[in-house]
Amino acid sequence: MFFDPNGKAEGLAHNPMKALVAPRPIGWISSVSPTGTANLAPYSFFNLIADRPFMMMFATSGHKDSFFNVVATGEFVWNLVSHDLLEAMNRSAANVDANVDEFELAGVTKAPSETVNVPRVAEAKAALECKVDQFIPLKSDTEGRHNTMVIATVTRAFIQDDLIRNGRFDNQSARAVSRLGYMDYAVIDTVFELDRPD
Ligand SMILES: Cc1cc2nc3c(=O)[nH]c(=O)nc-3n(C[C@H](O)[C@H](O)[C@H](O)COP(=O)(O)O)c2cc1C
Repeated sequence: MFFDPNGKAEGLAHNPMKALVAPRPIGWISSVSPTGTANLAPYSFFNLIADRPFMMMFATSGHKDSFFNVVATGEFVWNLVSHDLLEAMNRSAANVDANVDEFELAGVTKAPSETVNVPRVAEAKAALECKVDQFIPLKSDTEGRHNTMVIATVTRAFIQDDLIRNGRFDNQSARAVSRLGYMDYAVIDTVFELDRPD
């Protein structure tokens, strides 16, 4: 079947677009408001987009607290959502007032960063500190909400020591969670190697 991706997806129970482009890594973004309130929220319009230097993006559908914070401070931290942090990540998706500390709401601990004034999630097995380079306005959505892509350079990286095996980050043990469509998620349980052709 063909369907209109931006319309009602006639004949389907729900729009399947996010289920098609899956899995998407979760950008669990911590930021700090101009008045010092720590914020935490998941963004699945998110990815690592370049190396040398490493750069990340996340896109906000409508301007939300994370966006206002990074506009004001130019900084955020990406935190890895491992399977044991799934419920905490979900709690941090609640639409709450900007002056609510979402680390407390999610039930996670703050740990200091080295290059930004934004805490990482202490329980996260990996975290990347980011400084914003660009805000790219995207098309507004059908309800007139402003969509914006935030692009940043990664300035410092953190890995919990027990996730380093033989000098490599142990993806199998980290059990990263990713976003599918609908209310579905996936977890990395199987890792295999494939050599590139010469
Ligand atoms: C797994 C997951 C992925 C999400 N991805 C996005 C996203 O890519 N863009 C977005 O605007 N909202 C996304 N949301 C919704 C935001 O997390 C939610 O609106 C949150 O309240 C925003 O928090 P903030 O206002 O503190 O930034 C996602 C929610 C979940 C649970």
